[in-house]
Amino acid sequence: MNLHLNRQLAALKYGLVWRKPGFLARMTGFYLKSFVVRQQQPLRYVDFAVDYACNLKCAHCFKTTLETNDKHPRLQVSQYKRIAQECVDLGAIHLSLQGGEVTLLKNLEDLIRSMSPQRVLVSLTTNGTMITPSLAQRLYAWGVDQLNISIDSFIPEEHDQFRGVKGAWEKTFAGLKTARQAGLNVQVNTTVSKFNLYTTGFLDLVDYCIDNRILLNIVLAAPSGNWDANIDAILDTADMRCVRALIQSSAYVRQDMDSIVLGRGCPAMKEAIYITPFGDVLCCPFIHVSFGNLHEESLRTIVDRGLQYPFLQAHAKQCLVAEERVFIDKYLSKTFERTNLPAGCEEIFGLPKDVAAEYTLPNPVVVADNEVASVIAEWRRRCNNCETTQAFSH
Ligand SMILES: C[S@@+](CC[C@H](N)C(=O)[O-])C[C@H]1O[C@@H](n2cnc3c(N)ncnc32)[C@H](O)[C@@H]1O
Ligand code: SF4
Repeated sequence: MNLHLNRQLAALKYGLVWRKPGFLARMTGFYLKSFVVRQQQPLRYVDFAVDYACNLKCAHCFKTTLETNDKHPRLQVSQYKRIAQECVDLGAIHLSLQGGEVTLLKNLEDLIRSMSPQRVLVSLTTNGTMITPSLAQRLYAWGVDQLNISIDSFIPEEHDQFRGVKGAWEKTFAGLKTARQAGLNVQVNTTVSKFNLYTTGFLDLVDYCIDNRILLNIVLAAPSGNWDANIDAILDTADMRCVRALIQSSAYVRQDMDSIVLGRGCPAMKEAIYITPFGDVLCCPFIHVSFGNLHEESLRTIVDRGLQYPFLQAHAKQCLVAEERVFIDKYLSKTFERTNLPAGCEEIFGLPKDVAAEYTLPNPVVVADNEVASVIAEWRRRCNNCETTQAFSH
């Protein structure tokens, strides 16, 4: 069967939330518009970073450069309610909470309930260490459908070294199993970098997820936050051929680039946005540039501003922040070695017409169908020889 169709079926397994008829009706309308009328939805997914406090100390964490903000106060629950409504009005069918570590928050129930959980799919992105049976049951009752749990190696010591806390892996895996028992869908998020692509820890994680029919979302290493300017971590074209082959070989391996409605490409701003705890709207969690602030403007106004930039209008076929060296050198590098981000969009990109004149989108990395098996065989050989190490120390 066609892989795109297989992927949609795997996604449907996560999306068919029978207890939420309001959401199912909206999702059906969304897909009908997209596939039958073939009309691009303006917005599909919103990532709310609600608080940056955390119990782990990950080597790579992108949040560190977004943590301090002296320009705007934190958003309050009543404001989240209004913003979630704006997201729904713009078409969003999936709202997600992350941080920091959201499971530490005392007002998590209020935050979830402010997201109109009956009308949208609700997910939490979490390190999974705090998921007890009682919390998992409460999350389900509050309207959470899916946990995106971050695991960076199948080898406990490697994961713990990367996450900066001993014993994290054991708690995370226990959390994963507990969540599934409570009826929550689980997606594993794994950060893939030069340091772990060719390791047995990554290989075994891929096999575990495929064998257990758990979606494995590959998050490409991005030079942001703690990995600010860390170009050594990011994948090159040969590495990306392995990633593409993996995705092409299984409907259970994906990247955000594979979730867009009409094919494959970067969803930033058109289909997906990231909102900081201070109300700044970013096109992507890793590009620390604000297109406007929700204390001052409506979401519609901010998204429309972002969509004037040509690289956000089109579906770029490479990840701008993790693959596209020209974009990184030309624009992202202006955010390196700075605190108090996000910077303003005009400061980093100039005006949309300037970008149109000076930047063209790159070609995709392509693996032909008849090459997939050999690329994967070579990747497995290199993993079994463990050609890279998890050089994840701080
Ligand atoms: C900032 S964390 C917040 C949610 C939660 N604490 C967790 O670890 O899943 C969200 C996701 O971003 C990933 N991440 C953080 N910094 C990154 C970077 N520089 N490059 C790629 N992924 C990164 C994490 O591994 C995690 O999957
Ligand atoms: S990646 Fe997640 S768990 Fe790790 S420090 Fe960042 S917010 Fe915390």
